[in-house]
Amino acid sequence: MRGKDVTLEGVSITYPNGFMAVQPTDLQIAAGEFFSILGPSGCGKTTLLRTVSGFVAPSAGRVLIGGEDQAGRNPNARPTALIFQNLALFPLMSVLDNVAFGLEARGMPKRERRARAAELLALVALQDQADKTPPELSGGQRQRVAIARALAVEPAVLLLDEPLSALDLKLRSHMRAELRAIQKKTGVTFIYITHDQGEALTMSDRIAVMNAGRIEQVGTGDEVYSNPATAFAASFVGESNILKGRIDAVDGTEARIETARGTFAARNPQGMAVGAPAYLFVRPEAVRLGAGGNRIDGHLTRRDLEGPFVNLFFDAGGEEIAVHMTNTGALPHDLGESVALGFEPADALVLPEGPLAATGQELVGA
Ligand SMILES: Nc1ncnc2c1ncn2[C@@H]1O[C@H](COP(=O)(O)OP(=O)(O)OP(=O)(O)O)[C@@H](O)[C@H]1O
Ligand SMILES: [Mg+2]
Repeated sequence: MRGKDVTLEGVSITYPNGFMAVQPTDLQIAAGEFFSILGPSGCGKTTLLRTVSGFVAPSAGRVLIGGEDQAGRNPNARPTALIFQNLALFPLMSVLDNVAFGLEARGMPKRERRARAAELLALVALQDQADKTPPELSGGQRQRVAIARALAVEPAVLLLDEPLSALDLKLRSHMRAELRAIQKKTGVTFIYITHDQGEALTMSDRIAVMNAGRIEQVGTGDEVYSNPATAFAASFVGESNILKGRIDAVDGTEARIETARGTFAARNPQGMAVGAPAYLFVRPEAVRLGAGGNRIDGHLTRRDLEGPFVNLFFDAGGEEIAVHMTNTGALPHDLGESVALGFEPADALVLPEGPLAATGQELVGA
């Protein structure tokens, strides 16, 4: 199997009711890449994927796969396969026959079909389960059957629409590693849709962060996490303490932001000018007890022990500041105790004001 590259050129998708679910989008996905599209419910992920697979025609722009314009090609004529959240396996057919099903439709003789299906089952480590039926498998095993079945038709691009969302937490994290391994083994291009940032960060070569029909940033997990391009990306990917304010001074690549909780120095990657309305973002793991180039005072209101980590929550002038630290055994402060918190300018970021993710930390400040 071999992956192909996928290019979107100015693709927008407007539904018949006039709603533009995907704003004009340019995107290039490399052959053999594990590419995730990450965004909240309703942002247009499935719509975008259905346009790549051919179930929805773009209202404007072009979809190219391996350099070939896909206009006018129906889903069966495209080098893609699609895996949905509900897997639609045939419950009365054996696992092997489920995987071989698509090959029969292509006129492959029975013996070849069975041999090929057996190979694919080995690829997803289910060679011992070939004779069972799907209801006799675990959720994760069923997921792997669906992957084997999708790969049977040798797609160059596998489109996965939240395929793990029906699984429990433990199985989901196990399947992340499995999916990643299968993708590397086959070299097929994976376009993986999820609203789960943990999934996107652990599996992907690159991630597109999508909000309200628009791709706001494309980058590696590290780039998106450490250098979010928009207030939305900063608040949707990972946790952040967020303070609203106004740029007070600019010095090279740093700025000072004035907030209701004080004035803080932070990185200013987008070169915002004095007076610009802005947000300050500080990751909970970047806030320290005591030392730091920036200082904010709060009193401890809650301690959540998470095994190796401890999450502390402080009340700073009526707003919550979260601090994540490794659990060293002794908890450093009592509830109610007043503590000076610090963070370094290099660990803080100012970005232009804009929509925030609904799942982010609560808005702090003015
Ligand atoms: N057939 C349709 N007609 C009109 N609007 C639609 C149609 N299908 C989807 N939409 C709207 O388009 C937007 C994007 O929907 P889409 O299914 O692509 O979102 P999504 O990002 O996949 O969300 P989720 O994570 O919940 O699956 C939503 O606002 C949705 O209500
Ligand atoms: Mg969807």
